[in-house]
Amino acid sequence: MSAELTVLLSSKQIQDRVDELGREISRDYPEGPLYLIGILKGSFVFLADLARAITTPCRVEFMGISSYGRDKKSSGEVKVTKDLDVSIEGRHVLVVEDIIDSGITLTYLLNVLEQRKPKSLGIVAMLDKPERRQRPVQPRYVGYQIPDEFVIGYGLDYAEDYRNLKDVCVLHESA
Ligand code: IMP
Ligand code: MG
Repeated sequence: MSAELTVLLSSKQIQDRVDELGREISRDYPEGPLYLIGILKGSFVFLADLARAITTPCRVEFMGISSYGRDKKSSGEVKVTKDLDVSIEGRHVLVVEDIIDSGITLTYLLNVLEQRKPKSLGIVAMLDKPERRQRPVQPRYVGYQIPDEFVIGYGLDYAEDYRNLKDVCVLHESA
């Protein structure tokens, strides 16, 4: 099997948009600390760039959620594989996601986090595929809405490969 990649969003387009998001978030959350919760592993690149584009004092935490395995589609089953090490009670929290697809992962996660009584709870997603939504998730901030294509790079993987690509690319597979 061979794979063909075409660039959907260049690293320059991504950086420009991340800087805009950082400015918007800094304006909307003037008071820190803002808790940025990165969802492993896909958000690690976006989170690193976004955190540096935000001027409000931030704290960075991670959670691990699994729902996909090696497949390109959600298994529909979600579980927490790594929980937070800190309390978020009374804190402003932004969940940082690489991409929203069916919305199954974030619906589950928001339920879990809401029970911990944060002062506010929002989502920032670098990419959004609204056409594929099965659960109504409303991110507060989105980098780019993209069509229904499987994408990799800028933290996103296919079977753990391609996370280190600077651009977001569409992965076309041929037999
Ligand atoms: P959801 O639960 O279907 O919204 O899935 C969200 C998760 O699926 C993301 O955090 C990604 O890890 C993964 N995912 C969804 N679409 C893609 C894609 O196009 N490329 C790589 N990973 C994806
Ligand atoms: Mg993910």
